[in-house]
Amino acid sequence: MARLSITGIRSIEVAVADLPRAAKFYSDVWRLSEIAQDGETLYFRGTSSFHHILALTPAKGPQQMRRVSLNARDRATVDALHGKIAGAGLTCDSPHALKGPAGGYGFGFQDQAGRCFAIISDANDHKDDARIADRPYRIAHVNLNTADQPVLHGLLSDLLGCRLVDNSGPQFFYNADSTDHSAIVICKAPADTLNHVAFELPDLESVMRGAGRMIDAGYPIEWGVGRHGPGNNAFAYFAGPEEFPLEYTCDVEQIDETYEFHGPDFWKWPVGRLDHWGVTPPHTKRWHRIQNLVEFSKSGYALP
Ligand SMILES: [Fe+2]
Repeated sequence: MARLSITGIRSIEVAVADLPRAAKFYSDVWRLSEIAQDGETLYFRGTSSFHHILALTPAKGPQQMRRVSLNARDRATVDALHGKIAGAGLTCDSPHALKGPAGGYGFGFQDQAGRCFAIISDANDHKDDARIADRPYRIAHVNLNTADQPVLHGLLSDLLGCRLVDNSGPQFFYNADSTDHSAIVICKAPADTLNHVAFELPDLESVMRGAGRMIDAGYPIEWGVGRHGPGNNAFAYFAGPEEFPLEYTCDVEQIDETYEFHGPDFWKWPVGRLDHWGVTPPHTKRWHRIQNLVEFSKSGYALP
């Protein structure tokens, strides 16, 4: 039976200092498709049916995460989740018909750290939905740094209906109402910044070819290629435009309600190893820096 929860990440909105450069990168190198423009905002889709998975807007200052939009199955779920979020006293607007090219029904809210989220259903999604070689399908997960892990845990589990399925030390993995192992990861950190955003590719061949395409375009691998413990997904991490922390991933473990939680002792690697294959070098210094680099906008939670 479906539980009262989000089904996963629908899209992210990022404000960038150099919009033309970022737009060219996300189309030509990252391989999304630009499908709409509304004012100064550009919308990019993957090959899933979601109307868009990335929105880019011009930043007044440094690059910023503007919003993470979560997908709900239907309007009733949006309304029910709104009731919980409003009831918990979080800042939010009311569910309404949304403007903009994606349309839909939803509302915006802020977490306790001021980060902006949205919960959306019934958007103007595409009829076609296929996993295509060398092209991102959708956002697999967003990893959020948090200075107050118990508070964010409360939001994800008590209000959004997500389930904590693994904990590998500082990282906590949350399953949405989906067979995908996790959709949101939270990482204990000194500040409430973005850790990274992972885009799902259809297979390992696409991750390897994508890594090569990134290297050719001047974006070397910052960590990987390797295969993670929790989620068992293959990974390659990069510093995208303006050093936005990006991941190409594939093979996310498919789970159901019988999946057993494991903690840090279970997920500890043998000395010298950082992935299942034992092939990835350690993270670069740059990756360590940029996984705490991107701040969230603390205003503009309400959806037009
Ligand atoms: Fe990741």
